[in-house]
Amino acid sequence: MPTIRQLTPSDTAAYRELRLASLRDFQFAHGPDHEEALAKGLDWHARRLAKQDYHWFGAFDGAQSDAPLVGAICLRMQEGRRLRHAASLNSLMVARSHQRAGIGRLLVAHLIGFARSLGTVRQLTLEVNESNLPARRLYDSFGFRQFGLEPDAIHHEGRYCAKQHLVLSLVSQHPNEQPIS
Ligand SMILES: CC(C)(COP(=O)(O)OP(=O)(O)OC[C@H]1O[C@@H](n2cnc3c(N)ncnc32)[C@H](O)[C@@H]1OP(=O)(O)O)[C@@H](O)C(=O)NCCC(=O)NCCS
Repeated sequence: MPTIRQLTPSDTAAYRELRLASLRDFQFAHGPDHEEALAKGLDWHARRLAKQDYHWFGAFDGAQSDAPLVGAICLRMQEGRRLRHAASLNSLMVARSHQRAGIGRLLVAHLIGFARSLGTVRQLTLEVNESNLPARRLYDSFGFRQFGLEPDAIHHEGRYCAKQHLVLSLVSQHPNEQPIS
């Protein structure tokens, strides 16, 4: 059973490795380019994990302190009292070796539960490549709904792909929010 916990600076190297592998293996699913990301070192990734208003969570394969990081997700808050009720889900990824085992679902459920626990977040938004059917199915199962489509948002392998904008209202609770046991 994977363990979910907040990522800390000590997870930087493992997070960088996970991110680079996901950008390499699932480039179509991500905005950042794998080749460009390779040039970003540990400092850059440490700053990314430490950014104010970003809450990072990792899925670890086991409960022991040296369990490998196999998935990650980020909740990004907005500053300002007129905007802080709207946050976004970002940077979801699960290692290729650990996919289809419920970890993505666990991470999304955890992030929604955390956002709810803050007591100030009314809705969550996210962006997903229109051709990313696995992720779209996952988000759909939590009740995320499309409110916009940005055509030609991502340039991938010589083609332009559209990006869907999805929203989930936290005003009511969706049954799939309960983490699986
Ligand atoms: C999307 C992703 C995070 C899913 O992680 P995962 O741990 O494999 O997902 P889970 O095992 O929790 O599956 C949850 C649901 O997602 C959907 N899903 C996941 N992988 C799928 C696949 N290959 N094909 C179809 N549906 C899929 C299914 O609806 C699944 O529910 P089910 O098992 O009841 O059918 C993973 O495929 C990934 O890292 N992809 C590359 C990065 C990415 O796309 N990130 C999202 C960017 S917006």
